[in-house]
Amino acid sequence: MSAISTPRTSPVSAPRTYRVKSFGCQMNVYDGQRMEELLAHQGIAPAPEGEQADLVVLNTCHIREKAAEKVYSDIGRIIKDARREDGTQPLIAVAGCVAQAEGEEIMARAPAVTMVVGPQAYHRLPEMIARAVDGERVTDTDMPADAKFAALPKRRSVGPTAFLTVQEGCDKFCTYCVVPYTRGAEISRPYADLIAEAHRLVEAGAREITLLGQNVNAWDGENGKGQKVGLDGLIRDLAAIDGLARIRYTTSHPNDMTDGLIAAHGEVEKLMPFLHLPVQSGSNAILKAMNRSHTAESYLRLLERVREMRPDIALSGDFIVGFPGESEEHFAETIALIDAVGYAQAFSFKYSPRPGTPAATMDDQITGEVMDDRLQRLQAALNRDQHAFNQASLGRSCDVLIERKGKLPGQWLGKSPWLQSVHFQGDYGVGDILRAELVQAGPNSLTGRVIA
Ligand code: 5AD
Ligand code: SF4
Repeated sequence: MSAISTPRTSPVSAPRTYRVKSFGCQMNVYDGQRMEELLAHQGIAPAPEGEQADLVVLNTCHIREKAAEKVYSDIGRIIKDARREDGTQPLIAVAGCVAQAEGEEIMARAPAVTMVVGPQAYHRLPEMIARAVDGERVTDTDMPADAKFAALPKRRSVGPTAFLTVQEGCDKFCTYCVVPYTRGAEISRPYADLIAEAHRLVEAGAREITLLGQNVNAWDGENGKGQKVGLDGLIRDLAAIDGLARIRYTTSHPNDMTDGLIAAHGEVEKLMPFLHLPVQSGSNAILKAMNRSHTAESYLRLLERVREMRPDIALSGDFIVGFPGESEEHFAETIALIDAVGYAQAFSFKYSPRPGTPAATMDDQITGEVMDDRLQRLQAALNRDQHAFNQASLGRSCDVLIERKGKLPGQWLGKSPWLQSVHFQGDYGVGDILRAELVQAGPNSLTGRVIA
């Protein structure tokens, strides 16, 4: 930990309330929850709705420029909102990937920030807070492999769906991506720790667990019998936990889709029929420039094999439009790939040059107007397919896991096995799993009729 000792203008006392604001990916949501648990463990309470917290943690995302710039506008807003009668300000901690990548810049640009903590160091927040209260500005962007999880308090209370980080970091070095720099090298958490944490999540109320990793399907470890296993082995053993009804995993890389994992989709009942497998582009020339090390054809073959194992699987992906050098022909190949797959849902982004990545200095950067136009056409194709997928689900019966109350009286919101939002009426509770027929499809959700 490095400490920059600059006295602040306004004195602070030990924080009694906190607010954690997470941006970006599901890993950040998980990290944000773990930070909340850590702070609660220190006797700091969540700030009541509408009240200013004594400690604000901004858990940031660095994946695209817009996400990173948001940090500075957020800091400005917190300071404006937080000016109190006694002249004190909340302690502001910047966490997450912007903290990792731009820690020094944040400290220089935003004097109100008292702590900068990277994604592998947030277990040391309590110590940092103590130093911040003493008047220091503290930066910790060390990357101790796996120390964090052991140092965090045990998880006690969770909702019906919980995240479990099994793997972090990335060794793939796609030429547009900051993750290998902000999250570091691929590490897998040990098998025994994960089985134990999953048991605790189920005891604390989880019925569904989503296994998280930047390259989750690169997870490997040694099981209780001393055998080397991949993610499929972990999934099979997690499926044996009583009370756990559903398993999902995200995000995967096509090159780490092993035969075993594909087979698990046909064999493990608790593994939900959903696969998020980013492809980014349908053009082999662009995929090569992206250093994706797969082709459009190898990706499509992979999906065919998954579909053979699990014909009803819902497919999801990530797309980038306007990567440097992307021509109209390259883009047409992406649209052709989308047409061939028929995604149930997908995420799409305009290419954003990230400092320090190889693509940021490539020739032939694409203009904003061209990107806007391509993104619009790409999203039209994806929306069409999402709509078709939802329409094709009508008349199907499936289990729906209730996640929360809906906006209307007596309304509940849950998820189908294919990760569709389903709402319905009745006298139920969060965590219930109901058998329902899907009877109506809107643009973003379906209506279910409970049949058992
Ligand atoms: N510009 C635009 N999109 C990006 N992604 C990652 N890096 C960039 C970037 N520089 C997208 C990819 C990835 C998802 C998480 O974010 O599609 O799969
Ligand atoms: Fe980024 Fe590529 Fe790694 Fe995904 S696989 S985190 S896009 S470098």
